[in-house]
Amino acid sequence: TLRIGVLTGGGDCPGLNAAIRAVSKSLMINCCAEIIGIQDGFLGLIERRVKPLNYEDCSGILSQGGTILGTHNSASPFNYKGVDVSDKVLDYYQSLELDGLVVIGGDGTLSIAYEMSKLGMNIVGIPKTIDNDLMGTDRTFGFDTAISIVTDALDRLRTTGQSHKRVMILETMGRYAGWIALHAGIAGGADVILIPEFDYDIDEVAKACQSRMGDQHYSIVVIAEGAKPIGGQLTIRETKDGGGDPIRLGGVANVLKLQLEQKIDAEIRATTLGYIQRGGSPTAFDRVFATSLGCYAASLVANKQFGKVVVLQDGQLCSTSLKEVAHKSRIVTNEDSELASALSMGICFGNPDL
Ligand code: F6P
Repeated sequence: TLRIGVLTGGGDCPGLNAAIRAVSKSLMINCCAEIIGIQDGFLGLIERRVKPLNYEDCSGILSQGGTILGTHNSASPFNYKGVDVSDKVLDYYQSLELDGLVVIGGDGTLSIAYEMSKLGMNIVGIPKTIDNDLMGTDRTFGFDTAISIVTDALDRLRTTGQSHKRVMILETMGRYAGWIALHAGIAGGADVILIPEFDYDIDEVAKACQSRMGDQHYSIVVIAEGAKPIGGQLTIRETKDGGGDPIRLGGVANVLKLQLEQKIDAEIRATTLGYIQRGGSPTAFDRVFATSLGCYAASLVANKQFGKVVVLQDGQLCSTSLKEVAHKSRIVTNEDSELASALSMGICFGNPDL
């Protein structure tokens, strides 16, 4: 029988449990596989914490947010408290007598997976992240849920903003990519959408908000956590995490509020949605999508197609190599932002080509 490990790494996102369920149940049903759950992402392989998953463990979790396996954002076998422990992780993987490992993660986790696969681990990757910024796939699961939550928040900010005749600023997650801000901004009818890909001109933002004060009397501005003004710096939020990527973005809504207060005559309020975008139950779309990715990954494992990641390209599920997605990220292009620009209701300021 096959013995397959499963882990979830990086920030959690809605749909992780749906993917764990799909990959595990599919391998149990079709290959009588034994599934070993690795706890807390690659940290579980470093600290040697695993537990077998049975059919019941994978039942009733489809709609649950988070991950039953736990996750970790910065644990890497190549830099565990400053030490490269990848050889020890490989020894442990071999001692578990695994035929393969399914890694459900974003760019960081799948980059680690690629490096470990070069050392001899049999890995199949499943892309996840609310940020939708993974290279090689048009979509990641978690994104649909995140933009639904942000859109709902925008609808709510609209009614209070309209009532008080205010400029309402909403900060979204997304790291260095503007997908969440762009898509939720379009869905929520934002007046201004600011994303990391195009540095914004504060005078243009002020002009757009001020002109709306005359007729509509309120404005909705969506700003991605990685956005910055032309010539400005990224806003970094400090945390005490060790290892991994030390850069944590955020706090831009308040920075923008202070900048705008110098320029326009209006009441301005800032809201940061933060981890609400990542928690809770996945949308129906993300449940189906994560399930499809999980089942596809199981078939790759069953056919010993290792070193691959399941991706969505032009509406079709297929696989690409881990190498294609590792150490890269997919950001918003001019073409992607055209819809927002065309409607003048959601302009990505600062893009010289538009
Ligand atoms: O990658 C997902 C994400 O939620 C980003 O949008 C955000 O910048 C980051 O994770 C926050 O990570 P952490 O959990 O380390 O604060």
